[in-house]
Amino acid sequence: MAKKTPARPNVKVVIDGNQISVPEGTLVVDAAKLIGTQIPVYCSHPKLDPAGLCRICLVEIEKMPKLQIACATRVTEGMVVHTSTARVAEARRGVLEFLLLNHPLDCPICDKGGECDLQDYTMSYGAGASRLTEPKLHKPKRVDLGPTIVLDEERCILCRRCTRFDDEIAQERNLIVAERGHKSLISTRDGGGYRSYFSGNTTEICPVGALTSKAYRFRSRPWDLGRADSVCTQCSVGCNFRIDTRFGHVMRTFTRENPEVDDGWLCDRGRYTFNYMYSPARLRQPLVRRDGEHRPASFDEALAYAAERLGPAAAAGKVGVIGGGRLSDEEAFALQKFARDVLGTNNVDYRTHIQRFASPARFGASLTDIDDADLVLVFGTFTPEQAPVLDLRLRRAVARRGAKLMHIGPYKPDYPVAVQHVEYPPGAIAELMEQLADTVHHGREESGDGFVADIAQQLVDAEKIVAIHNGRNVAGAASLERLMETLARYDHQVGILVVGAMGNARGAEAAGCVPNLGPGYAAVQGTPGMTTTQMLAAAADGKLDALIVVGANPALTGADGTLARAAFERVGFLMAVDLVMTETASHADVVFAAASFAEKQGHTTNLEGRRQAFAQAVEPPVGVYTDSQILASLATALGKPNAVRADADELFVDLLAAEASAAASRPKDAPLPRPSIAEAPSSTADQVDATHRRLTICPIPHLYAGGGAAAHDPGLAEMRPKPFAVFSSADASRIGVVAGERVRLTGPGGTIEVEARVGDQPPVGVALVLADMPEAPENRLLEETGFGWATVEKVAQAREASA
Ligand code: SF4
Ligand code: SF4
Ligand code: FES
Repeated sequence: MAKKTPARPNVKVVIDGNQISVPEGTLVVDAAKLIGTQIPVYCSHPKLDPAGLCRICLVEIEKMPKLQIACATRVTEGMVVHTSTARVAEARRGVLEFLLLNHPLDCPICDKGGECDLQDYTMSYGAGASRLTEPKLHKPKRVDLGPTIVLDEERCILCRRCTRFDDEIAQERNLIVAERGHKSLISTRDGGGYRSYFSGNTTEICPVGALTSKAYRFRSRPWDLGRADSVCTQCSVGCNFRIDTRFGHVMRTFTRENPEVDDGWLCDRGRYTFNYMYSPARLRQPLVRRDGEHRPASFDEALAYAAERLGPAAAAGKVGVIGGGRLSDEEAFALQKFARDVLGTNNVDYRTHIQRFASPARFGASLTDIDDADLVLVFGTFTPEQAPVLDLRLRRAVARRGAKLMHIGPYKPDYPVAVQHVEYPPGAIAELMEQLADTVHHGREESGDGFVADIAQQLVDAEKIVAIHNGRNVAGAASLERLMETLARYDHQVGILVVGAMGNARGAEAAGCVPNLGPGYAAVQGTPGMTTTQMLAAAADGKLDALIVVGANPALTGADGTLARAAFERVGFLMAVDLVMTETASHADVVFAAASFAEKQGHTTNLEGRRQAFAQAVEPPVGVYTDSQILASLATALGKPNAVRADADELFVDLLAAEASAAASRPKDAPLPRPSIAEAPSSTADQVDATHRRLTICPIPHLYAGGGAAAHDPGLAEMRPKPFAVFSSADASRIGVVAGERVRLTGPGGTIEVEARVGDQPPVGVALVLADMPEAPENRLLEETGFGWATVEKVAQAREASA
């Protein structure tokens, strides 16, 4: 659905004697690349606007008396450029001498050594010796620039790539150049720490060793690193990165630009989440619960115990399998095969959050569709927290092209760019979608509701529209599709993206980890199975004898945490497969230790439906196996040795074959069938009680929240938020709480204690509660709808009352 942009006419230019034809306006530095000539640059970066600050890129252009900077000069018809004359060489030597005037020349201990442009260009174009006889100016070294970065001011060449990234790409304007002249320093606007979800990118684009990452400082030299091409699985964007390793350890991750997915950027959650692999909390062997305690067991012992308990439950048809959204495509395929072919049940479901589906049934969009969209509608999802690198595209579209961004949901997220927020109560978005579809279909006059007509008019005025939602509201999604269909009929370009609650939600759905659909969205044989909610409810009622949870933690992330915990306490046998002891695994009778993403190979499918391969970077610890190896071994222990393959390549071949067969039997262009959903109990979410202390609870995501690996990753520790709830000032004064106080929230499933914040985001009667924090699981307050209610009281008062 890409919009056509008019092509620029080509012009002929001659660079170093080679004539080429390039679009008019191409920068000389880019035109030179086309003939293989690399003009040195520092301040220039392909993703940033030309700045012309460092002068290292000087070239000679005929008919121009002075040397010109190649990074900011655009080609014109007949231009003749010389990039390596004696004049150019002398100018570069002068620029380098200037840049090195006060440089500490500490390459032997600098992390950038071996991949530093200053080092490289000095070797290629520098004078070889300094003429400086005066002492050098000394600036601060080891400046703590925030949770992720250390700044060495002496190494900084003031190219401003970092400040320009922060300004032009992140649109956050945290970083500035403070002071003047030779005293200039990189600093933050408010003098505090540099806190950005994208801070790690500045360490990569800094052309020297001035910005280094705390996670990687002094850990390795570039030439000692092994490299594996991988894909981030921390969210459903699926950014591409490289895993750099040494001595079998992951040292760092590094961008691996894919313009169609990540545009060359990573968020810090994706970049820095790997040290949990080396945390003492990492599971390194199976555990079996005996006499009420988890005790280490051999792999074979754990398999035998699990098989002994699962066999009778499967024979009785009383078993369920939960998970898949955090596995690879191959492993998700293996998991549903294990459920169906080994346990004989369709009770398998990847949905362990509020998400109900991962792929739009129709009108699927790609990430690059955001780049030329006129209007982006975001429904109920919070892209800065849940899909950060997608959010960079949104920011660029709004700030650089003037695209409109409209957010529809219960509260206004923090966007650093202009956003039109349409406040809509929790749980009511389906109704709004329906009204919008009707209004667009029948025309503006038909609507009695002013703001609905206004949104509808904006839709009608836009040529290209991308809608982003969280796959939570099935009725809303159907209405959205109807709206899109109407717009498409009138020649609008439309597309939908579903932001997954787990990194591989879409891959798990496509691989068949849902109760009514097999691989490739084929209808299942026999009766569709139970959804996650239905399995948990059945287990809590004693109607299921065994549950298997693989790479999922519904006790913390499930919409109804009370139900999940009741299920795990009541079910006869619970098996968990995970990386660390999660809130769910802590209830299990057998826990298998699983390999992490860096310790296996496979594919993962991002929110666009793009399947991407990732390579194995390091070996798993001894005693730790991939999920498919565990499932294949368990299948053998259950007497079905060939039912599930352990090998990722073989699984991939089988998955492709199953998908091809499903696609062949589905009518062309037919909408994808939806995974079945459990009937949600009616919500109390809309029953705002503005007179008492009872408030509607709306969970809010945070990039660094989460249990499991995220809670045990030392690289994320400083960034992790403390549990909090935000109240409107009206509610805060009515209840009598002030910001910073501890409050107790009591809902239908229990109580949590959090810090009170007061802000203008929540509507009156709604408390925004940080989601997925093991210290204060907000899902105790929620229902299956994903919303809930709670009464609020100060902790001090509550303690007095109970004393
Ligand atoms: S810290 Fe690095 S990126 Fe920033 S201005 Fe200095 S040299 Fe350039
Ligand atoms: S946006 Fe998502 S996929 Fe990309 S680096 Fe961040 S967490 Fe990983
Ligand atoms: S790269 Fe051209 S002026 Fe800096």
